[in-house]
Amino acid sequence: MNRKVAFTAMDQGTREDYELVAAHDAKNAAGLADRVLVWLRSMDGDSPYRISRLDHALQTATRAERDGADDQTVACALLHDIGEVISPRNHSQAAAAVLAPYVSEKNHWIVRHHGLFQGYYYLHHYGGDRNARERYRDHEHYEACVEFCARWDQASFDPAYKTHPLEHFELLVRELFAREPRPFL
Ligand SMILES: [Fe+2]
Ligand SMILES: [Fe+2]
Repeated sequence: MNRKVAFTAMDQGTREDYELVAAHDAKNAAGLADRVLVWLRSMDGDSPYRISRLDHALQTATRAERDGADDQTVACALLHDIGEVISPRNHSQAAAAVLAPYVSEKNHWIVRHHGLFQGYYYLHHYGGDRNARERYRDHEHYEACVEFCARWDQASFDPAYKTHPLEHFELLVRELFAREPRPFL
């Protein structure tokens, strides 16, 4: 049987207790890449688009890679929509939260805001403001997020595009989550 902490309320914990908790947390974190890959595979279902959500993710990453993006940026392109699995109503923020400890502040910002920036391509069809992203016009990562959407995200719904399979990116995902995490934001 697994060892257990002695306490029943956190304020009673000892250093030994919390070392046990930390060891468990580290093991849990080590399984994150596997879980994220499961999430990605779960996006291989029905979709109103001409390709699955998984294929959209793969195509976005493939385009980023072919444009010469660095590994971390390609990984973010692959994972930018994983928030849809656990938080469909704010998928950008959810994906950004998962990635935050492992990516640059710039990549985090792009993933967090990509949904709003993507709105440029369709919000007017719902009576919304396609230029809502303009409120970030002066932000240092505004142009990078516009580019992310224009070149990779909004363009990646094409069944004819030669897209790499998930296996091609698996190591990239594992390397990303094996990085020493940044402290809480
Ligand atoms: Fe998205
Ligand atoms: Fe997307």
